[in-house]
Amino acid sequence: MRVLIFGGGAREHAITLKISQSPILTKLYLVNPNDGFSHLGQVLEYENFEDLAKKSLINKIDLLIVGPEQPLVDGIADIFSAKNIPVIGVNKKWAKLESSKIFAKEFMLKNHIPTAKYKIIDKNINIDAALADFNSPFVIKADGLAAGKGVSIVKDLNVAKSTIQEYLSGKFGKASKRILMEEFLEGEEISLMSIWDGKILLPFISAKDFKKLSADMDAPNTGGMGAYCPVKLNSNTQKQLNYYIENLQNALIKEKADFVGIIYSGLIITNEGIKVLEYNVRLGDPETQPLLMHLNTDLLLIFKYAIEKKLDAVKIDWKEGTSACVVLATKGYPQKPVTGDIIKNLDKINNDIQIFYAGVKSKNNSFMTNGGRVLSICKTSENPFPTIYKTCETITFYNKIFRNDIKIYDKI
Ligand code: AMP
Ligand code: GLY
Repeated sequence: MRVLIFGGGAREHAITLKISQSPILTKLYLVNPNDGFSHLGQVLEYENFEDLAKKSLINKIDLLIVGPEQPLVDGIADIFSAKNIPVIGVNKKWAKLESSKIFAKEFMLKNHIPTAKYKIIDKNINIDAALADFNSPFVIKADGLAAGKGVSIVKDLNVAKSTIQEYLSGKFGKASKRILMEEFLEGEEISLMSIWDGKILLPFISAKDFKKLSADMDAPNTGGMGAYCPVKLNSNTQKQLNYYIENLQNALIKEKADFVGIIYSGLIITNEGIKVLEYNVRLGDPETQPLLMHLNTDLLLIFKYAIEKKLDAVKIDWKEGTSACVVLATKGYPQKPVTGDIIKNLDKINNDIQIFYAGVKSKNNSFMTNGGRVLSICKTSENPFPTIYKTCETITFYNKIFRNDIKIYDKI
């Protein structure tokens, strides 16, 4: 197969590496890769999605794999599908599961998928009356995409009120014209990524993402500072998870969800059972890095079966042990990352460590930091964290930060 991969973060590096190892790959093309993995394929330049689709036809591309959500929200899958180029990635309509939290809530409500109780707030709603329906801590969410920063959880009623006012007066532009207030849920969170072929929803093993910048309860949320998989689940949680997957599959069938792509469920295991915190329409970052390291099965073959609507024939084989990842980020992330530092000692790492590149730029034969999340340091073994953390110390750059408390949880 001739494959085009879209996106330039550590997640896309992991996807690209895995696809490049597939025996059914004949040629790999990349769009917007970062300098850390652009050598793995031929880079295509493009002006817009129409232009990219035309170039894809010229280059006889058999499959487009889309990493990030923005191009999906902007309709890349629709444009490629109209030219009969198969895509792993949702169409514009279903990208709303991620780009509109209100759309996602309505989907869940219609289909009896448990989620936090919520209320939609816009400029016509009385904020005090709305707040009176909830208890502290108050959960406030922008409806639209806000680069992972659109959720505020605040304890104080007055702060909640001013946060809502800030959101409505355009803190996240159009994305916070409408917002959600939500019941606060307590429990352990897991990420469940799955692939949908139009008939079958095939789940991957669940992963644990460490979203906060530090272990501090009040630390800001980030895209994710580390992850591991599989999560050890007790039999009751596993049963609930199986039920959830069946429920989601039935909902997608009922709604005639006409796409082939990824659905990521951000789940929380509460005393009342598993509930959905959010949907994403792409693989998670950083969860994908350990997930694909843990995967024995050929990823391209899974995708091929998906576009042929034959996911029922796929049996996924996973490695033993745990695959894990710790993110090296740069000071200021997620608000205002400092970039431009030289990254040192990349040549001094163990063979059993896999590094996926994200915010990097090459200069004079070395790499400089060029974004908030810089590198994903990954390994698969019975207990990968000691070696991963040794590597996090070995690699240096001036404004390096990372979470040092990421660990494997007992059964949840
Ligand atoms: P989201 O982008 O909606 O997944 O929210 C980001 C993070 O905020 C989640 O991973 C949770 O840690 C937290 N969060 C979101 N909604 C709630 C909620 N209703 N109750 C408690 N925590 C939440
Ligand atoms: N790590 C969470 C996400 O990809 O949205």
